[in-house]
Amino acid sequence: MGLSKLLLVFSLLLLLFSSFTEANGLKVGFYAKSCPKAEAIVSKEMKRVMKLAPSLAGPLLRMHFHDCFVNGCDGSVLLNGTRSSPAEKDGIPNVSLRGFGTIDGIKEKLEEACPGIVSCADILALVARDAVVLTNGPFWEVPTGRRDGRRSVAIDTLRNLPPPFFNFTQILNGFFAPKGLNAKDIIVLSGGHTIGTSHCSSFSNRLYNFTGKGDADPSLDKYYLPKLKEKCKPDDVTTIVEMDPGSFKTFDASYYKNVLKRRVLFTSDQSLLEHSEARAYLQRQIYGSPSEFFKDFGVSMVKMGNIQVLTGNEGEIRKKCAIVN
Ligand code: HEM
Ligand SMILES: *[C@@H]1O[C@H](CO)[C@@H](O)[C@H](O)[C@H]1NC(C)=O
Ligand SMILES: *[C@@H]1O[C@H](CO)[C@@H](O)[C@H](O)[C@H]1NC(C)=O
Ligand SMILES: *[C@@H]1O[C@H](CO)[C@@H](O)[C@H](O)[C@H]1NC(C)=O
Ligand SMILES: *[C@@H]1O[C@H](CO)[C@@H](O)[C@H](O)[C@H]1NC(C)=O
Repeated sequence: MGLSKLLLVFSLLLLLFSSFTEANGLKVGFYAKSCPKAEAIVSKEMKRVMKLAPSLAGPLLRMHFHDCFVNGCDGSVLLNGTRSSPAEKDGIPNVSLRGFGTIDGIKEKLEEACPGIVSCADILALVARDAVVLTNGPFWEVPTGRRDGRRSVAIDTLRNLPPPFFNFTQILNGFFAPKGLNAKDIIVLSGGHTIGTSHCSSFSNRLYNFTGKGDADPSLDKYYLPKLKEKCKPDDVTTIVEMDPGSFKTFDASYYKNVLKRRVLFTSDQSLLEHSEARAYLQRQIYGSPSEFFKDFGVSMVKMGNIQVLTGNEGEIRKKCAIVN
């Protein structure tokens, strides 16, 4: 009797412990038995793609962010819409989302190796990590085991994705906090803007007519402003501009130096200066190696990658990332 009670307590403790180590049911190496080469296949394909089209690093990192913020990291950003029911892809903040073909290609390779095993949501998480690694950024272990959702609706994007013209407080209260992310996560993940490009239309409000008097945003560096105006005429919706001037192809901490110099594109970037914790963080990045940012980035990416994931029997493993089974 005593022994069986002891055993019961022990197994309950074990259960509790394992549910701690596998928060949400995701775990590092989820495919170790079911598809041992999964991560290697993703990395191999990413190396090939990045050689052919290095400019896809930015869009592929951003895609995981857009997936996770809209109905959780469930691959829904990849689903095709129809004329009568537009998908997340068709929503307004989709501007410049690209690289869907890369994801579809990686999925094909994975289906050849282990059919029906690896989710599209996990592919996005692994691809985002590899995009960072292949632009000289940090490596982190990616917990996997996500399953794919079936809902993808265009109007969900506007409600869930922070607009570039919002400030720190608005982004924290309106977008990050409701998903369980905090101020530190904004500070760290905004550092993702160390790679990639933006369309003029995402920040031209800061160049022309900022307050309705034909003026520019006074918080923009006065030497950087004319350069941006030269590239971006008032109604330009096609031109793209590098996000982290001087090193937009390299994942490094120079984004933070540019925030301090007021040479960043969005109000959301610039408003890091308004927040005392963020300001201290920026200042630490000027000196020393990028190791603090690099370590933090992996931690916050894993946190973001946990948002409302589907696990166990929820959702499905799509055969093709653009359509539900
Ligand atoms: C904090 C709130 C954020 C806002 C307001 C924001 C906004 C934007 C906007 C407006 C663009 C430019 C889109 C275009 O016009 O082409 C962009 C690009 C980008 N964002 Fe963010 N973003 C945020 C957070 C993040 C996060 C969390 C990540 C990933 C960790 C991320 C990664 C990127 C990347 C890599 C690009 C470049 C994409 C490319 O090269 O095409 N952003 N972001
Ligand atoms: C983005 O959405 C617009 C409509 O808001 C649509 O015209 C465009 O084709 C979409 N772009 C992509 C890449 O899906
Ligand atoms: C951020 O924007 C909100 C809404 O416009 C405003 O009330 C607040 O003062 C702004 N915060 C800062 C620090 O400027
Ligand atoms: C600037 O904004 C104001 C107020 O929204 C508007 O009346 C005016 O026409 C705009 N000027 C330009 C040049 O777009
Ligand atoms: C999804 O849409 C894209 C662009 O419209 C198209 O090229 C692709 O073939 C579609 N995928 C599927 C599986 O229908």
